[in-house]
Amino acid sequence: MTCHAPLSEQIPVVLKTTKSGDPAQENNPHFDPKLQSQGIVCAACHVRNNERFGPPKAESTTGAPYPPGTPNHGGVQRTSHFERAEFCRDCHQFDPENSVLVNGKPLQDTYREWQTSTWAKDGAACQDCHMSNRRHLWKGIHDREWVKGAVRVESQLKNNAAAGAPGSLDATVDVVNAAVGHRFPTYITPKVFVRAALLDDRDQILPGTQQERIIGWDARFEAGEWKEYFDTRISPGEKFQAVFKWPPTARARKIRAWVEVHPDHFYHVYFYPAYLQGENLSPEGRNLIEKALKDSGNSYYVIFNELIPLN
Ligand code: HEC
Ligand code: HEC
Ligand code: HEC
Repeated sequence: MTCHAPLSEQIPVVLKTTKSGDPAQENNPHFDPKLQSQGIVCAACHVRNNERFGPPKAESTTGAPYPPGTPNHGGVQRTSHFERAEFCRDCHQFDPENSVLVNGKPLQDTYREWQTSTWAKDGAACQDCHMSNRRHLWKGIHDREWVKGAVRVESQLKNNAAAGAPGSLDATVDVVNAAVGHRFPTYITPKVFVRAALLDDRDQILPGTQQERIIGWDARFEAGEWKEYFDTRISPGEKFQAVFKWPPTARARKIRAWVEVHPDHFYHVYFYPAYLQGENLSPEGRNLIEKALKDSGNSYYVIFNELIPLN
């Protein structure tokens, strides 16, 4: 709740202290269900105790000037905190001292990943990438063009053929974190599949030749605790190299190498199916989770696709 619906008006029940000094719950008189369902609203970042806050005036402010006669909020407190990575930390970094650790790492470690990167050293805050020109875009792993622009992929083939006879084949696919300001991907939820296969003379995949390597943090909640299976996320500036090998095959004409991003993999494969097992779901809740399960299986996209002829 502190991250996804942080305003007090979004919380239906609040704690109070009774006359005898015991804690008790009470319906929140300011609760607003419409506001609750909106999640992070402007006020979550811009209002505290009914006062408005914002960044220092920009040299070229993008917003239109107020038309004459409109109130300008009774003034705004300007603070450079809005321009700093620490502004984002409270919601995008779990406390390493005080939260669940999976193989020594908090489930959300984005701020610390950024802090140890060249981006932090060179003074590029989260806002410089995610809110360029102060635009409230916050593009993430669901945006194909954005991800494509930050990750470089290169493939290479080694054909070990001797004269006249087919040889074994090696292909490498390098995935470079060129301009992501933290690990790629930063959360446990996405998975990136690096795949390769041999194609016949009609560009069809030869059965049994498809292989894959996975980039991501595979952490799962099982039997009451978190368990790490692997962590192959790519730190800023680093490279993930997938190596594929095939024995000699006379029918192969090309190699197809491709990279597929599944932004909602964790939700689709682990979270929603487990959630649907729960007995306390309302019929409406069940419908929504079933829809989410379906949508999360369809959100994947391809950022790299190459056909490499063998000769
Ligand atoms: C997640 C936090 C967050 C939310 C939600 C948010 N903002 Fe902002 N807003 C910021 C930050 C951070 C900046 C400063 C960015 C920078 O300096 O690069 C900012 C800047 C602004 C500015 C100054 C723009 C300028 O050109 O100087 C305005 C105006 C603004 N926000 C209005 C809004 C409105 C209206 C909403 C809701 C529709 C909203 N914000 C929602 C974080 C937020
Ligand atoms: C009040 C808590 C809060 C603050 C402060 C906050 N975020 Fe978020 N952010 C969230 C939540 C919650 C989500 C998930 C929202 C959703 O998926 O609907 C999110 C989502 C995102 C996403 C992913 C969007 C997507 O399409 O997947 C990005 C990128 C992001 N935030 C960047 C930032 C940056 C940069 C800042 C600092 C300027 C910031 N956030 C400040 C709570 C916050
Ligand atoms: C150099 C540019 C850059 C900087 C700096 C940067 N990011 Fe990102 N961020 C990206 C790109 C590109 C992606 C999409 C790829 C990915 O998900 O890893 C992304 C993705 C994200 C996501 C989305 C996760 C999701 O599941 O969609 C969040 C949240 C996020 N960043 C938060 C932050 C925070 C917080 C900071 C600062 C501590 C920050 N970013 C700094 C470029 C940047």
